[in-house]
Amino acid sequence: MESFLIAIVALLILCLSGPVSADRDLTGGIVRMPSEASRFFHGGDADEGSYDDGAQGTRWAILIAGSNGYWNYRHQSDVCHAYQLLRKGGLKEENIIVFMYDDIAFNRENPRPGIIINSPDGDDVYKGVPKDYTGEDVTVNNFFAAILGNKTALTGGSGKVVDSGPNDHIFIYYTDHGGPGVLGMPTSPYIYAKDLNEVLKKKHASGTYKSLVFYLEACESGSIFEGLLPEGLNIYATTASNAEESSWGTYCPGEYPSPPPEYETCLGDLYSVAWMEDSDIHNLRTENLHQQYELVKKRTADENSFYGSHVMQYGDTKLSKNSLFVYMGTNPANDNFTFVDENSLSLRPHSKAVNQRDADLIHFWDKFRKAPEGSPRKVEAQKQVMEAISHRTHIDESVKILGKLLFGLEKGPEVLNAVRPTGQALVDDWDCLKTLVRTFETHCGSLSEYGMKHMRSFANICNAGIQIEQMVEASAQACPSIPAGPWSSLSKGFSA
Ligand SMILES: *[C@@H]1O[C@H](CO)[C@@H](O)[C@H](O)[C@H]1NC(C)=O
Ligand SMILES: *[C@@H]1O[C@H](CO)[C@@H](O)[C@H](O)[C@H]1NC(C)=O
Repeated sequence: MESFLIAIVALLILCLSGPVSADRDLTGGIVRMPSEASRFFHGGDADEGSYDDGAQGTRWAILIAGSNGYWNYRHQSDVCHAYQLLRKGGLKEENIIVFMYDDIAFNRENPRPGIIINSPDGDDVYKGVPKDYTGEDVTVNNFFAAILGNKTALTGGSGKVVDSGPNDHIFIYYTDHGGPGVLGMPTSPYIYAKDLNEVLKKKHASGTYKSLVFYLEACESGSIFEGLLPEGLNIYATTASNAEESSWGTYCPGEYPSPPPEYETCLGDLYSVAWMEDSDIHNLRTENLHQQYELVKKRTADENSFYGSHVMQYGDTKLSKNSLFVYMGTNPANDNFTFVDENSLSLRPHSKAVNQRDADLIHFWDKFRKAPEGSPRKVEAQKQVMEAISHRTHIDESVKILGKLLFGLEKGPEVLNAVRPTGQALVDDWDCLKTLVRTFETHCGSLSEYGMKHMRSFANICNAGIQIEQMVEASAQACPSIPAGPWSSLSKGFSA
């Protein structure tokens, strides 16, 4: 049985990572740049005239982990780490708004109850993290209300919002699963790129910030801003990946460096730990956003290996000559540790990584492997692996059939997989995209974390002008019923 499972998991991981690695061409140096970056500003010199030391205004931050479940340990761990970093930098608790489901620290799977770590030898990052929005209060609606500073729009939670003024600086950091044009949430619905960009535009129109920096980790995270975030909003964003590739978890069981042996889950994400471990050790007055972007990009790409992703930048790239101090403050203990490119790069050995979308399997598999023979735990882990795999197969197959029903055997896959040119948004009609997702889920069950990868297929169906009636018919044909597995359940609602 064990070798059978190994084969299945190995096969699956191979299948999944195959296309990802084929899409990438790191060694050839072909990195797709967003149109916004074409007028790239070669900042980097903190002595230049318009250097903004953030002397005026308040620093605000929103930290948000979009997942729940112990197999997603790393996202909430990233967010807790970011909180500690900002507090050490001098931000006040009242100015940092934390969204996290909060089911990790006291999860029965956590080997160190009440403690969360973000690297193999890391300290507890959970202590003192405020519970602003936890559990079912981690919603898109509350996230948007917090950005806009609109208390009356909140449901539940601590009531903390970004109550900012025109001289203030805002830092938003999100980490989780995603897909083309979408970011996951532990509740439904998910975050759609169009809506997020509308909220950012609205925030800008309200004149309640001087500049805003958005760090985003998720699969296909480039698609959230690609062709959607205009210049001129005083917003600078970087993303863990471009619009068509996965992002990566790190400090995973069986990889190097691996978590302590009692941990059966990844502890962090590659892009996320790259920026945080850099910010942790430097005097942030001496390092600017551009320097950090370059460094994080190098560490996240991890050339000469099949994993890693292309870190991207969007929006007002000229803002990237601002020092990190403007957004993150700086830890006085680092005052003598000036940022020096070369030294910083060699600080950490290249770490191995796991595709975001395989991290759940890694967890279930490691749990299975370590559980005693014949124990209920082993049976449970085996069931979890099987359920996750069968959900993936169901979703992948259903989408494939859908494409063939709508466009024919040959053209189906071609239409579904088409990628629009750089600089163009994923889809023109976002309402169509949401309607199609709901239609699909009505007949085929929840897309769930894994299924978000197919968002481009739904977008392309919209772009091809398919009518809703055709989609209803094809979905009903592709999925005669919703599978019974927990991943397919619509109990949490539609993802759109
Ligand atoms: C705040 O949210 C409420 C409820 O959604 C809405 O009616 C109101 O217009 C919003 N206020 C602003 C200033 O956007
Ligand atoms: C930085 O270096 C100066 C001069 O050597 C020293 O006085 C100071 O204590 C150091 N600061 C920190 C935070 O280590």
